[in-house]
Amino acid sequence: MSYIPQPRTTMLGRDPSSVPLEDIDVSQAALFHSNTMWGFFDRLRKEDPIHYCKDSEFGPFWSVTKFDDIMAVEGNPEVFSSEPAISLQDPDEELNVSMFIAMDEPKHGDQRRTVQGAVAPRNLANMEELIRERAGAILDALPVGETFNWVEKVSVELTTQMLATLLDFPQENRHKLTYWSDVATQVPGPGSICATVSERNQILIGECVPAFMGMWMERAASEPRFDLISMMAHGEATKNMAQERPMEFLGNILLLIIGGNDTTRNSISGSVLFLNENPGEYAKLKANPDLITNMVPEIIRYQTPVIHMRRTATRDFSLKGKDIKKGDKVVMWYVSGNRDEEAIDRPYDFIIDREKPRHHLAFGFGIHRCMGNRLAEMQLRVVWEEILKRFDKIELAGDLVRANSNLVKGYTELPVRVQPL
Ligand code: HEM
Repeated sequence: MSYIPQPRTTMLGRDPSSVPLEDIDVSQAALFHSNTMWGFFDRLRKEDPIHYCKDSEFGPFWSVTKFDDIMAVEGNPEVFSSEPAISLQDPDEELNVSMFIAMDEPKHGDQRRTVQGAVAPRNLANMEELIRERAGAILDALPVGETFNWVEKVSVELTTQMLATLLDFPQENRHKLTYWSDVATQVPGPGSICATVSERNQILIGECVPAFMGMWMERAASEPRFDLISMMAHGEATKNMAQERPMEFLGNILLLIIGGNDTTRNSISGSVLFLNENPGEYAKLKANPDLITNMVPEIIRYQTPVIHMRRTATRDFSLKGKDIKKGDKVVMWYVSGNRDEEAIDRPYDFIIDREKPRHHLAFGFGIHRCMGNRLAEMQLRVVWEEILKRFDKIELAGDLVRANSNLVKGYTELPVRVQPL
């Protein structure tokens, strides 16, 4: 991620306890890029769990930082709406795509129901062998004895192949999925994947839409199948979308690509990092590979690849005594909720045999809770099952680089070396 925000007062390099409470601005991407956000969130949870930031690059916003308060906001979608946007950044006027993650009921539910069968347990079971084969092939091709970037060679490769499978998108063109996801999520500017907004829109409307439109037409004309495009092309709430609401069509396609891309990718990368940082846990895993099932949700909690989701107040509302006004931005910081010591025992520790590892907020909560959660968990489980069959250790072999974003918590570089069994 090469977008560098221009904060008013930078939090970077500041001691969290020295910044006046009212000046704290946790929206600054530099905090996540440098992994120095933790102290700010610790302070907010303790001193001002529903915190108002009066001035930021994204305008004023409320921060919700504790586990239970995040659930309370997510559990009240009538007051805390997902429209018009679910990230701090307001929607782009020029490219007004709409996706069901950023819709309220009843439209959200109608569209979600249409596609969720693709990730239902039966379909996942069918997909597992394919994912296992592909994971195995990727791991077998790794350059033993060399230092390489795990993000690029494993995490990106595997998630992209999985996405192509899910969409029944031609495997040979699968890198376009990653490319379009990056084009859609990076803010255009110097050094970014697109220099200008119009270049970005040209790629999405000129390349991505026609590619999926062609697939949509082909699926609509064929018998229903179990890929996401076919499901949408035949689903009652979505079948007229491509022709009648092209921006909604683009939005939902992008949602599926983005939703399944950065998230799982960064959890796979994170797992390697956490096991290196916690050699005792790595030893536990090797002694007892059955722990993988328990480790997977712990990896996802510890990573929390989606840093925040935003809601917008539909009316004045008092949340824990704070007066939220109609139209205010309310940001749920999952990254903070998942380190809340009142909800999670020893939250800063990575414990692969933790009790109740699924008790976390990385997938959100309520009606918008992640649709791909079981798919993501299955992928991580399969990857680790295949890693343990082949390698004694995946060893960190250089400095990692973190994503420069306040939405996606992840890595661009994770240099490693693999030691075969
Ligand atoms: C570790 C991996 C993943 C994480 C941490 C994650 C996280 C999230 C989060 C935080 C939300 C918003 C939840 C809310 O607002 O309450 C979400 C929504 C969503 N995710 Fe995921 N996700 C992951 C993988 C995937 C995958 C593999 C897919 C592919 C199908 C996917 C598809 C979606 C969709 C479609 C939504 C929108 C759901 C709705 O609005 O009803 N996600 N995800």
